[in-house]
Amino acid sequence: MNITKLFRPEIKKIKPYISSPTIDDIAKEIGVSKEKIIKADSGENPYVPDFGRLGEIKSPKVCYYPDPSCRKLRNKLSEYLKVSEEKITCGNGSDELIDLLIRIFVSKNDEIIINPPTFSMYKFYGELVGANIKEVLRNKNSLRVDIEKMLMNISDRTKMVFIDSPGNPTSTLIDKGEIERLLRRQAIVVVDEAYYEYCGKSAISLLLKYPNLVILRTFSKWAGLAGLRIGYAVACPLIINTIDSIRPPYNVNSFAQEAASSVLDNKELYLNRLKKIISLREKCVSYLSSFSDLFVYPSRGAYILIKPKTNAKTLQTYLRKEGILVKLIKSCFLENTLRMNLPGPSEMKRIISVLEKYYEN
Ligand SMILES: Cc1ncc(COP(=O)(O)O)c(C=O)c1O
Repeated sequence: MNITKLFRPEIKKIKPYISSPTIDDIAKEIGVSKEKIIKADSGENPYVPDFGRLGEIKSPKVCYYPDPSCRKLRNKLSEYLKVSEEKITCGNGSDELIDLLIRIFVSKNDEIIINPPTFSMYKFYGELVGANIKEVLRNKNSLRVDIEKMLMNISDRTKMVFIDSPGNPTSTLIDKGEIERLLRRQAIVVVDEAYYEYCGKSAISLLLKYPNLVILRTFSKWAGLAGLRIGYAVACPLIINTIDSIRPPYNVNSFAQEAASSVLDNKELYLNRLKKIISLREKCVSYLSSFSDLFVYPSRGAYILIKPKTNAKTLQTYLRKEGILVKLIKSCFLENTLRMNLPGPSEMKRIISVLEKYYEN
């Protein structure tokens, strides 16, 4: 029996997401201890949450299903965001919310507009429902969204527009005024603020005026909870209720709910740690720029983009052998570019000394 004949055509065409290797995999591959690995390829924050020391997180009763509506967490989020609870829902990572939103609004052959280079999952989930993905490239020099081109490309078939701000991998922002111009059109505008805490710029206040706006956020990046998978959407109650009506009932596990609540109870601690990393951003850009082979893009977000004049893959492989993981970007005009998370102080020292060794040879 040929099972593939039974697959939906969209499934046959899909290109699976390639995840970065785990710290265990790399430590084994290069034969060093796990502590020596600098994992700077997936936008996580290098600080590990210290729930033990905080004594905050009470072990949830995992024999019972979790709270299906994340009440405690949504209550704390409502305080954090200054938005009422009815406008918030949580997901198994913001990835799940992207999938759910697309399934709510987009049918086969409807259009989704994205602005590459951008986060890959908008296209992935769009293709899964048979959407027509319109790619409106960012400005090649500034890496910013080309708002005029975006507006020109919105048509009657456009159901959704996805913008990551700060962008992944571009680390650039979109202005509120530009978002408003998109919001005046008849389409859902999703502003993905996965890296909001790295820049403090948000479009959330526009929710008061525009029911077609959805803001996505996550605890994966600033709060160090990537492994627990927890993100959230903020939107008008109609959209939130619709997400709630189609999502799996227990999509956010009890540990994730407790951990995210504890992060919000101790948000100053987490934000202060992040501040230290952000304060190094400019320094890191200028250190890296001192290598004549490297062009370093300005950063307002969680990443530093590095374009070597020589081969980026060779440099990535060298760094990997030294236990430093960075991502090779191959997206449209950003080919031969490396994306590195903002490092902490000790990590930065090691990265610089490894680069010095590389360029000495
Ligand atoms: C722009 C953007 N949005 C969403 C996500 C997914 O976040 P989560 O871990 O909450 O699924 C990422 C992760 O890389 C991202 O870069």
